[in-house]
Amino acid sequence: MNLLNSINDFNEAKSVIPGGVNSPVRAFQSVGGYPRMIKNAYECYLIDEDNNKYIDFIQSWGPLILGHKDFDVINAIKSALERGVGYGAPTVGETKLAKEIISIYDGIDKIRLVSSGTEATMSALRLARAFSGKNDIIKFEGCYHGHSDSLLVSAGSGCATFGSPSSPGVINDFSKHTLVARYNDLDSVESCFKASGDVACVIIEPIAGNMGLVPGEKEFIEGLKKICEKYNALLIFDEVMSGFRASFRGSLEFYNVIPDLVTFGKVIGGGLPLAAFGGRSDIMDLLSPVGNVYQAGTLSGNPIAVAAGYATLIKIKQNKNLYANLEELAILLTEGMKQKAKDYGFSLKTCVRGSMFGFFFNDKEVRNFDDAKLSNTKIFASFHQKMLERGVYFAPSAFESGFICAAMNKEIINKVIEDCEVVFSEMKGQ
Ligand SMILES: Cc1ncc(COP(=O)(O)O)c(C=O)c1O
Repeated sequence: MNLLNSINDFNEAKSVIPGGVNSPVRAFQSVGGYPRMIKNAYECYLIDEDNNKYIDFIQSWGPLILGHKDFDVINAIKSALERGVGYGAPTVGETKLAKEIISIYDGIDKIRLVSSGTEATMSALRLARAFSGKNDIIKFEGCYHGHSDSLLVSAGSGCATFGSPSSPGVINDFSKHTLVARYNDLDSVESCFKASGDVACVIIEPIAGNMGLVPGEKEFIEGLKKICEKYNALLIFDEVMSGFRASFRGSLEFYNVIPDLVTFGKVIGGGLPLAAFGGRSDIMDLLSPVGNVYQAGTLSGNPIAVAAGYATLIKIKQNKNLYANLEELAILLTEGMKQKAKDYGFSLKTCVRGSMFGFFFNDKEVRNFDDAKLSNTKIFASFHQKMLERGVYFAPSAFESGFICAAMNKEIINKVIEDCEVVFSEMKGQ
């Protein structure tokens, strides 16, 4: 595969952009090899600067459930563009999008639009603290909620402890208010509540997609709601990734739990920068200008992003078989990969939730981040590189989810499974 342009362009990018990328995982550091510089995309394909073509299982890290350059989404963007790129004033489109989300996801009276998932979770935490009058938050090891200071925190020594900063620059004064529990482990949550005595909220990806794909178990998610009620803390579902992805109603399809606050992103922006947080009126009305909890954004509710998100939601709502079809493809893919891995002596654990899928080179089922970390990242890196050389673009990290889009079909998935067979046979021979 000729990568000359990608290599040259990436080296040039590194001279002016830290690591050559504007979001670290794009740099391929955990899998090695050169990141491809992408110049174009259509349907489920990416085209790099050397004109190599890839089947894209990242789909812009989730948003593009309809695939690249979906006709209706692009048309909605073009038509919005003709009316100007932004006004810094309220628009009817924002109300329509808010109403649409509220009509789909139970338990939301009001919603505020922001520009990134990071902003959505950061703002939801502030609101939860203001509402409850308490200071601490509980998050889970292996869940990612964006890069605000309170959330860049990992477990201290042992689980169920006050966390420590997971990045230099996050000060202990922030991280000491974040407790980190073990995913799918109610005892560890209870321990955090007892250790703190001052918990404002629990934030969780009910379907975790940032340690690979690890869904919350039903009893765990339902138990979490009960613990939050017992300690009078708010439950925040971070559905930035799983919302409108794992199912039309995100996690609500899988659990009988309605959170107090929920965050969305990715799909609701149709590929443009848009995210949101919402919940009951009594909580949301604390936000400025109704209440005095401050939150704002120059580009919040940008009309182009709103048009793309609204067109996406309407289209996925109209296609009644969409999620069943995407899930069928995800199962076809992961079962095929698992069989081929087994044929060549590799132990692969797989998981599917609607259009999201994950796989671990692991002997054990993965229920939490400790399990995920036991996965063989060297085998993953080799698999990733070889698949890429065959034109199959999986996320460049062993701890990310994959995404099926509406532009994929069985023929494409079967081709990927054949590629897996070739790659596993090569890896076995090494
Ligand atoms: C569950 C979840 N929450 C929050 C975020 C942060 O979103 P953004 O990258 O738009 O800031 C992400 C990003 O991947 C995410 O997966």
